[in-house]
Amino acid sequence: MDVEKILKQLTLEEKAGLCSGADFWHTKGVERLGIPPLMMCDGPHGLRKQAGEGDHMGIGESIETVCYPTASALAASFDRNVLHRLGEALGQECQAEDVGMLLGPGINLKRSPLCGRNFEYFSEDPYLSGELGVSFVESLQEQGVASCVKHFAANNQETRRMSGNSRMDERTLYEMYLPAFETVVKKGKARGIMCAYNAINGIFAAENKELLTDILRKKWGYRGLVVTDWGAVKDRVQGLLAGLDLEMPGGSGSQDEKIVKAVQSGAIEESVLDQAVRNVLHLIDDYLSARRPESGIDRDKCVKLSEELSEQCAVLMKNEGTLPLKKGTKVAFIGEFAEKPRYQGAGSSHVHASAVTGALEAARDMGLEVTFARGYRAKDQGDHAELLAEAVATAANAEAAVVFAGLPDSYETEGCDRDTMALPEDQNRLIQEIVKVQPDTVVVLHGGSPVELPWIEDVPAVLCMYLGGQAVGRAAVKLLYGDQNPSGKIAETWPLRLEDNPSYLNFPGEEGWVEYREGIFVGYRYYDKKKMEVQFPFGHGLSYTEFEYSDFKLSHETIADTETLQVTCKVTNTGERSGMEALQLYVRDVESTAIRPVRELKGFEKIMLEPGESREVGFVLDKRAFASYEPKLHDWYVETGTFMIEIASSSRDIRLSGEVTVQGTIEKPIHYTKTSTVGDLMKTVKGREFMKQMMNPAQGRTEGNQSKGEKESMEENRMTTSMGEGSEKMAQNMMLEMPLSSIVSFGRMTEEQLEGLLEVLNA
Ligand code: BGC
Repeated sequence: MDVEKILKQLTLEEKAGLCSGADFWHTKGVERLGIPPLMMCDGPHGLRKQAGEGDHMGIGESIETVCYPTASALAASFDRNVLHRLGEALGQECQAEDVGMLLGPGINLKRSPLCGRNFEYFSEDPYLSGELGVSFVESLQEQGVASCVKHFAANNQETRRMSGNSRMDERTLYEMYLPAFETVVKKGKARGIMCAYNAINGIFAAENKELLTDILRKKWGYRGLVVTDWGAVKDRVQGLLAGLDLEMPGGSGSQDEKIVKAVQSGAIEESVLDQAVRNVLHLIDDYLSARRPESGIDRDKCVKLSEELSEQCAVLMKNEGTLPLKKGTKVAFIGEFAEKPRYQGAGSSHVHASAVTGALEAARDMGLEVTFARGYRAKDQGDHAELLAEAVATAANAEAAVVFAGLPDSYETEGCDRDTMALPEDQNRLIQEIVKVQPDTVVVLHGGSPVELPWIEDVPAVLCMYLGGQAVGRAAVKLLYGDQNPSGKIAETWPLRLEDNPSYLNFPGEEGWVEYREGIFVGYRYYDKKKMEVQFPFGHGLSYTEFEYSDFKLSHETIADTETLQVTCKVTNTGERSGMEALQLYVRDVESTAIRPVRELKGFEKIMLEPGESREVGFVLDKRAFASYEPKLHDWYVETGTFMIEIASSSRDIRLSGEVTVQGTIEKPIHYTKTSTVGDLMKTVKGREFMKQMMNPAQGRTEGNQSKGEKESMEENRMTTSMGEGSEKMAQNMMLEMPLSSIVSFGRMTEEQLEGLLEVLNA
């Protein structure tokens, strides 16, 4: 396509038309110029292609496909390769189905365990979310299919999802809610971005120029397409001016008319519209040149892939030796989910799975000796005494029991948040009763988000499968019996109870007004800072083997923030089974004037090791690993100082560490006002100079640059003004804390002198 030539040939109406959809899933075509419509579909964990007109609420049917583990499971793999394999498979399927853009991945941060779409999002950590997003985006796009990363930005709940207002300070936005998007744009070169429904600090994302143009395009150099979330437009013309290209699904055409009128009346320049059209055309053109509609997919291979990914995503949360189960022993499988597992969430990402394998079916297929009792009804919760009694008897008659528990479908869906972190009461009761008769009880959890585990002290083993896709049953059985070794690590903290979560007091806000008062202290950043006990810390996950960490090395003792630091260590599998270990690298700012988390994830690698095998693992850290966002600079900033580099098996299991000094190369600007303190002034050379000149010498100099006589007279003063123990410290502190305006009040300076001083200092 010669995009520039086509732009010249399009009428104003055709240009406006190209900026909204033809229907739910297609852009408009312009036949006379040979522009075909482009199809986009949902489905970051399986392709959700609806034939015909379709709907976007997961109500209408979509084509049969393979359902893979959802995002919260995928993130628990802590493995870029898992995301790469999934992106590649979905890219191939999109090609076979002639889909040009896949609406995913969702990379919003998990602010609260209650968000109804947490199963569609990766993590509470922006670095992990960004890195995993990059792998998915890159591999999908290598197949010639655009990814559409969503929902940009600060879309962290479902309550009032289409109209809410996420309110937060600049540092929180840049340090927590934007970085994953920044990474997939800069590093992953995402071709599409879907803007969120909600407003950020009062301006809807779809009309937010700061977000869509100043940050996304100018700061991050984004060159792709910006599409609305479905139905997110409030003011189409404002959106166009803000940098929004395509409105979906499109509607009646009245929005197109508004664009035409705005151009005709001069309210917007035609060049603004041209740029949006250019972005749409380039997306179509890119797809046309990569299109392979004749390609097919191997369904069996995809099912196998789904199973393998599910195995790598599962997290062994607790194991006091009950797992792996011994083949040949009689095991009771308890719970409806053993038969019909929960394997995906509801809403726009819901796919029509080709076949779902439950653990019971898988175990019997594998020739294992299992008995079964249903135990509870997921859709009809309550007191089912006969089910409970049958389950208890079945467990008592076996040598071990596995209870398949978790969140029922209705608990986790787009459009609703949960209002509790609890499992259904009947499931908790079931587990408690089972464990009384069967000490060797394992709980397998299905669900996209953390739940409270009131029985955890009594149950010796817990395996979390998350929402593991359609092959989750087979994967669970292989892990339970040790055919596979668990290697997932949780990508979000599991708190002891909902009330511990930092967003608890402000989630889901009032009438759509959501204050992110916990600021940057999301997830482990909060629990660690408050030294709180948690159920399972971020990054936690056990294995059937053991790993030893050694040989920690840093390439430098000191670096400038413009340089990089290489970190290496060795990991050895000291156990008797092969297994994978996800190493985590955390950086800790030992001393800092900014309020910072105790530690932050800045690297991770997953490696496979045979028993006795060792591997060296390397990480490279650059400025961003040490920086925090500094609102005074509107940029990232490294304060010179010591940083601790920690290599860990989880955020609370630090195995190796060492120090590096990082020298910041940018100075933080200081703007003095009348309420700046003497202490503020003394922090800079300019300020100290001034104090020397303006004040009486004995009071204007700090210790160290006073003459011997001055020191003696100050000493005398201290003695005579004794106000009890500590008065010396108090006097010094009071001086340093004194605002400049008070120096005027105390008659040491005139108002005019102070104004002159501020002018000089701020020049
Ligand atoms: C969801 C998006 C989805 C779109 C299209 C919206 O309601 O928020 O994530 O891609 O619908 O189905």
